Amino acid sequence: MKLHEISKSFGPVKANSNINLTVDRGEILGLLGENGAGKTTLMNILTGLYKPDSGKILIDNQLREFHNPREANKNGVGMVHQHFMLVPVFSVTENIILGEEPTKRFNKIDLENAKNKVLKISSEYKLDVDPDQIIEKLPVGIQQRVEIIKILFRDAEILIFDEPTAVLTPQEVVEFFEIIKNLKKTGKAIIFITHKLHEVLEICDRINVLRRGKIVGEEYPKKTDKKKLAELMVGRTVNLRTSRKKMEQGEVLLEVNGLSILSDNKEYVLSNVDLKLHKNEILGIAGVQGNGQTELVEALTGLRSVSSGKISYFGKEYKNFSPRKIHQLGVRHIPEDRQKQGLIGEFSLTENSILNTYYEEEFSYNITLNWTNAKIEAKKIIEKFDVRTNSENISANKLSGGNQQKLLIGREMSRSINLLIASQPTRGVDVGSIEYIHNQIVFARNKGIGVILNSTELEEIIALSDRIIVLFEGKVIAEFPSDTDPNIIGLAMAGEN
Ligand SMILES: Nc1ncnc2c1ncn2[C@@H]1O[C@H](COP(=O)(O)OP(=O)(O)OP(=O)(O)O)[C@@H](O)[C@H]1O
Ligand SMILES: [Mg+2]
Repeated sequence: MKLHEISKSFGPVKANSNINLTVDRGEILGLLGENGAGKTTLMNILTGLYKPDSGKILIDNQLREFHNPREANKNGVGMVHQHFMLVPVFSVTENIILGEEPTKRFNKIDLENAKNKVLKISSEYKLDVDPDQIIEKLPVGIQQRVEIIKILFRDAEILIFDEPTAVLTPQEVVEFFEIIKNLKKTGKAIIFITHKLHEVLEICDRINVLRRGKIVGEEYPKKTDKKKLAELMVGRTVNLRTSRKKMEQGEVLLEVNGLSILSDNKEYVLSNVDLKLHKNEILGIAGVQGNGQTELVEALTGLRSVSSGKISYFGKEYKNFSPRKIHQLGVRHIPEDRQKQGLIGEFSLTENSILNTYYEEEFSYNITLNWTNAKIEAKKIIEKFDVRTNSENISANKLSGGNQQKLLIGREMSRSINLLIASQPTRGVDVGSIEYIHNQIVFARNKGIGVILNSTELEEIIALSDRIIVLFEGKVIAEFPSDTDPNIIGLAMAGEN
């Protein structure tokens, strides 16, 4: 497959300019680039979601033009998107055949036949799934397999993965790599987008780097390293390590005692959790996803009621406070899923900038909004957090994934803040911006703020935390100082004490 001199602009934004890119059968091409560099746009062109302003797509040396993803599918091009596109209440099989339903007599959908084909693909490529399960009940890693089967069901020969590992647990990443190695073996051409440099070095045959809409480099894993790739991506030296001076713990800002949460099916998702967070402290919560972290954060931010136990902020117990009330204490929250909990995609950047403060005096005139001030706020966030956009009036879903994340973090960290609860703060963010966000978190901590850092990236936890606790099956099973050997923390994450 060959992309020849592809260009695409959105108004004044040149998302892709004169891009040439090839990928062969049996090859994994890594595509790197900072947030907003144009990776997703280029892939959306290849899959017929966008029409290029100029340039050509050649498959097996034949000129192709796709007007929609269906046409691209028919020509063997399939994509697993950065933000999944499955229908949560449908079953695995229903999702896979959506839009391509095989029919039997009298136009009835042939579900049996479809299911058999799903099972066949699933065993051929070792993509273990239960075809009858409902999507919303499945972990992210399995949902991703469904997305992969969905494109293989349509006989994809060129497979595009847009940041597939951003939402996976380390174990799921290992399994995902096995899957794409299998796909490679069967002669598929694969394009793999990620922000994790060690991943491209591990799995790719060749790496292309995009910056501001242009290809700025082609590298081979054996002849390059992380530092070089990072520099190519952002055009400057990136410090991959955050520097952090030791600080005395201050007074207690948050105290949790005996916190338990029962799930809908009467199992403990959190049991008897105690923790303390101090001024000038970053407390890391390490753990494999699904061990109670999400529920803990939801309880702390007023999004979930607790079964028993006590939560106190700044020395005062709070009971069933609303998220707004907690926000008014100066507790800020970076939620783990920016699109479901952090931003409203159809709203403008300005509106998103004041989502949880719009009622404050600064942003309201009696019953209307003070747009002038709201815009000033949005511009401040955009500038300070380097959100790549040319206007605060565009809707948030027009931003690239990483830039959506930066907008969200900027909103939460810009105004008066006493305590920050950050979940997966750098998910989908490029190395240059990770450096910036980490520095901002450390800066806030130096100024006296307490930070709860919930991250499935052990590297991130170790880089930032003053103290680390490990959650396993809803319990705090270990606590470590910041200079602990990562292997020991890793063992605790796996439940070994
Ligand atoms: N539908 C759209 N309308 C307007 N601008 C858009 C649209 N889609 C993308 N853009 C802009 O094009 C540029 C490239 O975005 P793209 O999503 O391709 O970046 P990316 O490399 O995938 O970044 P990330 O790593 O953050 O996902 C950005 O400036 C983005 O705001
Ligand atoms: Mg993208």
